[in-house]
Amino acid sequence: MLAKQQHIAVVIGSTRPTRICARIAAWACEGIEKDSDLHYELLDLAEVDLPFLDEPLKAALGNYQNEYTRSWSQTVESYDGFLFVFPQYNWGYPAVLKNALDYLYREWHEKPAGFITYGTRGGVKAAEQFTEVLRGLRMRVVDHVGAVITDADVDEDWQLRDIDATLGPVLPALAAIDLQLTEALAEPQRHPVQR
Ligand SMILES: Cc1cc2nc3c(=O)[nH]c(=O)nc-3n(C[C@H](O)[C@H](O)[C@H](O)COP(=O)(O)O)c2cc1C
Repeated sequence: MLAKQQHIAVVIGSTRPTRICARIAAWACEGIEKDSDLHYELLDLAEVDLPFLDEPLKAALGNYQNEYTRSWSQTVESYDGFLFVFPQYNWGYPAVLKNALDYLYREWHEKPAGFITYGTRGGVKAAEQFTEVLRGLRMRVVDHVGAVITDADVDEDWQLRDIDATLGPVLPALAAIDLQLTEALAEPQRHPVQR
């Protein structure tokens, strides 16, 4: 079998020590990859471990002073596209995710991006805001899907009781996102990124 050429980062967008995000992202990564021509792999913002943005110059200049920013830039450059996975926090999305996006600029341009939100109503408010930010970064935004997670889905430690039962309904949408990412990557870039 030929190795899959195009790599999609499945970004774990919550870094709380008791987060459910890591399991959801791992579940999604495995599920979406099964019938896909793309290779999906986890990218954990807890491991990237960026401080709050402290670059002296704006990211659009691409003149990074810190080694961790250069490393983050190379990491993002190395992926062809992104599937962000994150919860809704107070009608928005996690600050750690915005921070990771804000560190860079051109590295995001023209990369296709889909995402999965979750919350008691699927994280629709977070999805609205996140879509705008991805547009601001000139990403090629494909579909997103919201997973509804209520008290009934979690145990007393707020961990998912049965991840397949809770997330099963989003599988068809994940397949659609995979198709859209695949199609987007087959198209020529509208504004090739200067490297
Ligand atoms: C700071 C914070 C804000 C939250 N705000 C919302 C919210 O607006 N809507 C919602 O459905 N759930 C909200 N929740 C509940 C989260 O959906 C739930 O805690 C989930 O487990 C968070 O994902 P994580 O465990 O991966 O961090 C919030 C949780 C936190 C910690």
